[in-house]
Amino acid sequence: MANTYKIAVIPGDGTGPEVVAEGKKVLDVAAAKFGFKLDMNDFDYGGDRFLRTGEILPENAADELKQYDSIYLGAIGHPDVKPGILEKGILLRLRFELDQYINLRPVKLYPGVETPLKDKGPEQIDYVVVRENTGGIYTGTGGFSMKGTEHEVATQSMVYSRHQVDRCLKYAFEYAQRHGKKARGKGSANTLGLVGKTNVLTYVFDLWERAFNELGASDYADVAREYYHVDATCMWMVKSPEWFDVLVTSNMFGDIITDLGAITQGGMGIAAGGNINPEGVSMFEPIGGSAPKYTGQGIINPLASIVAGAMMLDTLGETEASVAIENAVMEVTGKKLKSLSAGNMGYSTSEVGDLVASLL
Ligand code: IPM
Ligand code: MN
Repeated sequence: MANTYKIAVIPGDGTGPEVVAEGKKVLDVAAAKFGFKLDMNDFDYGGDRFLRTGEILPENAADELKQYDSIYLGAIGHPDVKPGILEKGILLRLRFELDQYINLRPVKLYPGVETPLKDKGPEQIDYVVVRENTGGIYTGTGGFSMKGTEHEVATQSMVYSRHQVDRCLKYAFEYAQRHGKKARGKGSANTLGLVGKTNVLTYVFDLWERAFNELGASDYADVAREYYHVDATCMWMVKSPEWFDVLVTSNMFGDIITDLGAITQGGMGIAAGGNINPEGVSMFEPIGGSAPKYTGQGIINPLASIVAGAMMLDTLGETEASVAIENAVMEVTGKKLKSLSAGNMGYSTSEVGDLVASLL
């Protein structure tokens, strides 16, 4: 019997619903073609619901979402809601409560897509960042004292447990074994690079580095190990992105370097990511945000959302369908679209979805 996957869909705010609609279109075609079923159920979490009801997220939202095989997210962020409320109250809360401790962010330049990096093309820009997603500064202790006075003190500490670091590294090593350059026929080794700051953050990244080397030597000796400081990583991401294969890093560093990575792959119209709980329910999203100024015009690029859908299928085990969607997307970027940016694609949002679906 065909596998059926229960998918919770959170279209969210702004252009989220428009891009998610195209993603669903493509996912449905992929399901029919590759012989599985997707049972998709919409949730109205987002800014409009908050403005209407005053509730950011129902108390039991995470428990309800745990009943699903995966979550497909559009975008969170509303122009009438103060920044931070929805991001923290929905996106971060779901990541934490569902223990999605990995944020997987491929940095891959597709054919035909313009990059700001001079003389670099799809051959050079093709690596993956594994960002730790539930710890570090994002969840470390902090607070104010003497707030509002001239003696005010604010703290926000970078806290990591060995357990958090180990489970993230384990995922990253296994990802490198499965998807590294050797596994993809693009190099002689699968390489995992730890991105840290061992020269200054001598406690937290000492822990990361020891765990990295111990785990690597004992369980993943077939994966080559490299270490890079985060500041230098930013330079090399611009100058020599071809050096990278799979990178693993902390939550805050991963947040920062993946925006840099996204712009090198053509920007927010194409960059997708997965918030992954390898033992639980994961959530896939285009990383571009809700782009409110384009809402309702049918001009936003849905490819990032479609790629997020492909990542979701890979994580569900439907790898063939995932690869087929990505290939169709590459054909669309390579042969069809004029540009990735909203309003300049040469096609409407739904026409881009149709193109990908028809090429499947
Ligand atoms: C991201 C975003 C989020 C983050 C924000 C919106 C909370 O920047 O997914 O990278 O910091 O993780
Ligand atoms: Mn970010």
